[in-house]
Amino acid sequence: MNTPRLPADPLKGLSLPRYDRTQSFDWNCRRNPAPARIEEPPLPGSWTYCGLPVHSPLGIAAGPLPNGRWIRYYASLGFDVLTYKTVRSRPRTCYPMPNLQPVTVSPLGHSAAPAVSAPDMHGSWAVSFGMPSRHPDLWRADVATTRLALPKHKLLSVSVVATPSDDWTIENLAEDFARCARWAVDGGADCIEANFSCPNVTSTDGQLYRSPESAAQVAAGLRQAVGPKPLLIKIGHVDDEPSARKLCQALAPFASALVMVNCLSSRVVDQHQHPLFGGEPRGIAGEGIRDAVLTQVRLFARVIQQLGLPLKLVSVGGIGSAKDVRCHLEAGAHAVQLATAAMVDPGIGFRIRRSLASP
Ligand SMILES: Cc1cc2nc3c(=O)[nH]c(=O)nc-3n(C[C@H](O)[C@H](O)[C@H](O)COP(=O)(O)O)c2cc1C
Repeated sequence: MNTPRLPADPLKGLSLPRYDRTQSFDWNCRRNPAPARIEEPPLPGSWTYCGLPVHSPLGIAAGPLPNGRWIRYYASLGFDVLTYKTVRSRPRTCYPMPNLQPVTVSPLGHSAAPAVSAPDMHGSWAVSFGMPSRHPDLWRADVATTRLALPKHKLLSVSVVATPSDDWTIENLAEDFARCARWAVDGGADCIEANFSCPNVTSTDGQLYRSPESAAQVAAGLRQAVGPKPLLIKIGHVDDEPSARKLCQALAPFASALVMVNCLSSRVVDQHQHPLFGGEPRGIAGEGIRDAVLTQVRLFARVIQQLGLPLKLVSVGGIGSAKDVRCHLEAGAHAVQLATAAMVDPGIGFRIRRSLASP
C-alpha cells in the first residue's frame, strides 16, 4: 500500500483507510493502513495523561485499534494516547456479524425505548464484538513491537479484561485481570486500562463497575501488577450520585483515573420492532450517547471534588469535534478518547487539533 503524502490542506480529497463494517473483524485486523505523513498542529499549553506528559488531550478509546498496525496509523493522525483494544489471558473469537449495526436512538439514559436499526451510519451504532482477543503470546509480542515503533512522546495504553469461568471466585477474577496487566506492562505499555464494563457480555467481567466492593478488590490486584504506572478503570453508565460516590471511594485508593462511558446499553429492534441480537442488549456508541456521557462526567467531577479524591477523569462517548473536547475539559475531564467518530472519519483528530490550536 502506498503511503499517503498529505498536501498543504492535508485532508482535502484524501481517502484515508478506515474500518469497514461490512467486513468481518478478522478481515479488518489483517489490513495494513499505512501511517499518514502529516504534520500535527501543535497545541498551546501543557498536557498530561495521568501524570505522563503528552502533546494533546486526544486519545483513541479501546476498540478501534486491535493491533500495532492500526495503532501506528492513528498515532500518525494526531492522536497522542493510543489504547490497544481489550486483550485477555485466553484467545476469544468475535461475535458474528453485524459487529457494528447503525441505529437511530431516542436520547439514551432517559428512555427505555429500544434503538432502531438503520441501513446507514448517521452517528450512532450498536457495538457487538464480545471483546475478542488473540492468543496472549501474539498480543504480548505485538504490544512490545508496537511500543518500540511508536514515537516516544505518544503513549501506548493497553486495555485488559478477565475471562472468567462459571466457577470462578472474585479472587480468580482479580488474578486474571492482574495477569493480563502484568503481561502488558512487561511488554512496555505506558498505562493500563482495565475494562470493568462491557454492555455486550453478561458475565461478571462486564458488570464489575456495578459492585464497588468487588471492583475495589480487583483494582487492588491490578495496582500491584501495574506498580507505579497509570491504572485507568473503564466504567459504564452511572447516573445517580450515591452510586457515583461509592464507586469513586472504592476505586480511588488504586486507580489513577476513571474512563467513562463504555457505551450505553440498549435493546435493538429492526424497523418492524423485531429484536436483533437475540433480544440481548448491546452497547450503543456515537452521537446518541453524547449528552448522557457529558452529564455523567459532570456528576463524577462534582463527586470527586466534594470527596477530595485524587482521581482523574477521561471522557469517552459521542465526542467528535473540538467543541465536544472543550466541553469535556470544562466539565472536569483531563483527557478525552474517541472511538466511533475516529472510525467513521480517521482525519478527525487532525481537524480537532487544528481547531483547538487556533484561538
Ligand atoms: C468498534 C468498537 C469496539 C469497541 N471495543 C471495545 C473494547 O474492546 N473495550 C472497551 O473497553 N471498549 C470498547 N468499545 C467502547 C469504546 O471504547 C467507547 O467506550 C464507546 O464506543 C463510546 O465512545 P464513542 O461514542 O466515541 O464510540 C468499542 C467501541 C467500538 C465502536
